[in-house]
Amino acid sequence: MLAPPLYELRGATRSFRLGNSTIMAVDSMDVALDTEEFVALEGPSGSGKTTLLQLLGALDRPSSGKVFFEGRDLAALSDGELAELRLRSFGFIFQQFNLLTTLTAVQNVEAGLAPLGVSAGELRERSLAMLAEVGLRDRAFHLPSQMSGGEQQRVAIARALLAEPRVVLADEPTGNLDSKSGADVIALLTDLAARHGTTIIVATHDAGLAARAPRRLTMHDGRLVGDEKNGKKAKTTEKR
Ligand SMILES: Nc1ncnc2c1ncn2[C@@H]1O[C@H](COP(=O)(O)OP(=O)(O)OP(=O)(O)O)[C@@H](O)[C@H]1O
Ligand SMILES: [Mg+2]
Repeated sequence: MLAPPLYELRGATRSFRLGNSTIMAVDSMDVALDTEEFVALEGPSGSGKTTLLQLLGALDRPSSGKVFFEGRDLAALSDGELAELRLRSFGFIFQQFNLLTTLTAVQNVEAGLAPLGVSAGELRERSLAMLAEVGLRDRAFHLPSQMSGGEQQRVAIARALLAEPRVVLADEPTGNLDSKSGADVIALLTDLAARHGTTIIVATHDAGLAARAPRRLTMHDGRLVGDEKNGKKAKTTEKR
């Protein structure tokens, strides 16, 4: 039997009611994503990128339609199963890094695995190794306030990858960085993803970054208006 795609969205919709109006943040999306891809998610402000990432990361549920992850309907999973998925299968990276300000770099990375029941010694060892992978072994005992923005984002990358997730969902990860640090962060992310077999889905306003992605999805008003794979129109947006 053919393995299911990493993700499959069928009519996935997330609407918000505000007063008398309904906002279609994600509107009837049909798309399939394969593993080991770097997927760029583009679209103007308000087009639904963050909302879509939240659906993909099981942080939110569709109002209608379905989101399948590795063939499993996310809506059919229990809260416990969803928590397990968020912990083990998904890594999250945010524009503001979201590091805990009172913890050192290595403690922040450890937080990526803390609830998974590995010994303190192993946790420390794996976290330091992960920091070394992002080039920050010598910053392990710095606080976030003692690191540059690019370094903080690299700590966040180490944290997101520590549990060896299947997917890393990144929301504007270079939005708070200068262009050089941003480019470094993306090079690091794509390199690590390739090495660990992780799929990366990045919401971005940065056209240069998006241009490097083999798969580019473009949203507008909650709808998928573009889907390119290696510069060619992908099957999933063909008219049916
Ligand atoms: N909790 C909410 N309640 C009501 N409306 C919401 C909520 N979250 C998002 N929206 C609306 O849904 C639409 C999509 O928002 P979303 O944050 O997904 O856009 P985005 O593409 O990430 O934008 P940006 O590039 O500015 O981050 C917007 O019109 C937004 O105002
Ligand atoms: Mg957003």
